[in-house]
Amino acid sequence: MIKYFEKTRVFHLQTKNTSYIINVLPSGHLGNLFFGKKLDFESDYDKLVLKNNIEVGSQVIYDSNDKTFNLNTAFLEMPTFGKGDFREPMCHIRLNDGSRLTNFLFLSYQILANKPNFKPLPQARDNNTPTLEITLFDEVSFLYIKLYYSIYYDEDVITRRAVIINDSENNCILEKALSMNLDLNNDDFVLSTFDGAWIKERMLNQQKLKPGIIKIDSKKGVSSSDHNPFFMIANESTTEKFGNCYGFALIYSGSYEANIELNPFDLVRVQMGVNSFDFFWQLQPKEVFETPEVVLSFSDQGFNKLSLNFHELINNQIIKPDFKNLERPVLFNNWEATMFDFTQSKLIKLAKKAKKLGIELFVLDDGWFGNRNSDTAGLGDWQVNKKKLPLGVSGLAQRIEKLGMDFGIWVEPEMINEDSKLYQDHPDWVISHPRFKPSLGRNQLILNLAKKEVVEYLFNVLSELFESARISYCKWDMNRNFSDLFADDLDNYQQGKLTHLYLLGLYDLLDRLTERFPNILFESCASGGNRFDLGMLYYMPQIWTSDNTDAYCRYLIQYGTYFGYKQSVIGAHVSDVPSQQVLRTTSLETRFNVSAFGLLGYELDITQLTSFETKVIKKQIDFYKQHRKLLQFGDLYRLKSPFSTNEMQLLVMSKDRSEAILGIFQTLQEPNAKLNQIQLPMLSQEKTYRITKRDQYFNLDTFGYLIKHALPIKIKAKGILFHLLKNRYLFKTETDEHLVSGDILVNNGFIPKQKYIGTGYNDSIRLMGDFGSRLYYIEEVK
Ligand code: GLA
Repeated sequence: MIKYFEKTRVFHLQTKNTSYIINVLPSGHLGNLFFGKKLDFESDYDKLVLKNNIEVGSQVIYDSNDKTFNLNTAFLEMPTFGKGDFREPMCHIRLNDGSRLTNFLFLSYQILANKPNFKPLPQARDNNTPTLEITLFDEVSFLYIKLYYSIYYDEDVITRRAVIINDSENNCILEKALSMNLDLNNDDFVLSTFDGAWIKERMLNQQKLKPGIIKIDSKKGVSSSDHNPFFMIANESTTEKFGNCYGFALIYSGSYEANIELNPFDLVRVQMGVNSFDFFWQLQPKEVFETPEVVLSFSDQGFNKLSLNFHELINNQIIKPDFKNLERPVLFNNWEATMFDFTQSKLIKLAKKAKKLGIELFVLDDGWFGNRNSDTAGLGDWQVNKKKLPLGVSGLAQRIEKLGMDFGIWVEPEMINEDSKLYQDHPDWVISHPRFKPSLGRNQLILNLAKKEVVEYLFNVLSELFESARISYCKWDMNRNFSDLFADDLDNYQQGKLTHLYLLGLYDLLDRLTERFPNILFESCASGGNRFDLGMLYYMPQIWTSDNTDAYCRYLIQYGTYFGYKQSVIGAHVSDVPSQQVLRTTSLETRFNVSAFGLLGYELDITQLTSFETKVIKKQIDFYKQHRKLLQFGDLYRLKSPFSTNEMQLLVMSKDRSEAILGIFQTLQEPNAKLNQIQLPMLSQEKTYRITKRDQYFNLDTFGYLIKHALPIKIKAKGILFHLLKNRYLFKTETDEHLVSGDILVNNGFIPKQKYIGTGYNDSIRLMGDFGSRLYYIEEVK
């Protein structure tokens, strides 16, 4: 809902629970009056105005007719530099005469029933989404800026973007063109960012705002695992359950920046958009520059509600509508099982075993094409390697299909190895400078997708591949950051466009491919989660979260990721131990329990499983399939953070609160551990629930030589019988079933069986150990 109040020159934008209120200041600048919990349309807007009643010392007075007003202490929606606002500008434009002075004032507005189309960039979809368009004009430069605000009512989300139009006779250069600016009055704000690197993506970091500017950004050409393009600002006392918080996310997959500035007047400026570092964009007369869209959301019920807003937006408005609530298959991926070293018969053996385990989709990862036997060659040559796959991709796909599974394939189209046929034919297609020897990342170079002919080539070669076989899934990888930025077809005024033009080329390619192959489920990947953002999700409904599949690392990575992203987009695989990434050993059940809070897959040599492991995995997959809708699409709540405690607790719940799954995970086993009591405030106090622990198993290894104390029969630890039993015999963990009323679960909590405390073991003891975990199915009893 959007309303304009002519008398006060106020725009009031409402979502289900929030209000965003903009006003036209007496100076003509566009101001922000309020962003927070919903206010009445009939509010007295005057009472929202924070303004000086007297001249503020040492400020530049915008207009001497009103000495109380200066831009440096105003709450602005689209600030520029040059008229007394000394904070970061949202746009900075170099005009033809060399000046960088612009002053955009309110000109007009329209309230639109839909979002105007801006095809070249991904965006929250238009589902009759009411949109406010405000036009600002700078009368000296003849530049217009249109600001768009779209309302996602049910999701409690507002999206924003800007469009810059050059209506003058002259060129100008955009040196900074961000998507949004929001000024807030500091309320002991703490900033939460999600930072990391390869195999440790999206670690939660929190810091109190202090005077100065915090900038998170990526200069890598991808949104990057350094800082995810999602962050939150909250009052110091905000928790998962209570308190005010704001979330911001950019729908963009390239170099970006976000600035969080605290100025001397305790005003907080929040900005986000394409990175202005190494960016300049010549805008010729009549040309238009469109910024990517930013998602803004507010919650007065803590971080969990804020995350749910983002989760709902992703499922309802970002991913392709065909995949909304569409249950994702349990997949097998051969990468950690074989790497590049596979044959057709090895793959078929893996596939047969996968089928027996209950897997639905077989994914062939890297190494199936060209001369690709290591990561030094072959990228670019998307024709099958007949030595490895004599039946071709189609032959293999048919065999898989006959076994009763779908077939998926890996590609990394944006990349090229110098050792490839494509490079011999088109050395000019890579991003590099003619006088510098290009630096490699994972032995590869980047194809310049800013060039139309490159996009055209990729569209054709991939279309051929996707048409050549029954391919129902595609993992789209991208394994290096940008360097050697130079485009031989851009003049010196245009070079600053390269990375953004690359993104536009990539989006165009993805747009066309996903239109042409609407049934292929695409999974985005960039060395794991190096490009985990809403831009990629617009085309590809899921993302490979991280190359780190160690269960403990994964629960940190997934916990961080859930703040901004729904579990239905988070690829989560069970792999072998010790973990390839950290050499840690965790139990097979915990590896599954972590993956169950995402899109389940298996990525290990399943032909080598013991009979114990085979039986356990079958049961895991059965459980997952039985509760898949709930696990993938239920509302996710974070109950306990592994970043601040020795535990992680998660819960997914159906919208009608009739069923839920609780996951409890512990990092290290503590001696003489306390009794647990887990409050579940999201359940209904009016209902009664049955809680049933998922059947989980362990083998003799858990006890080692202590086995004589745990078993009724005596066997020699580490003897032949021990080994035989260890690989075959499934020991059931404790049984734990309760019938409990909702009011007890909400107010007192669920009490699982006591943990092992070193004094003995029986059927009522919960053996957790280091990295132990449990899942409980909670169901309403009528
Ligand atoms: C990247 C991906 C992995 C795997 C390899 C293949 O590292 O993140 O999952 O696909 O490439 O080379």
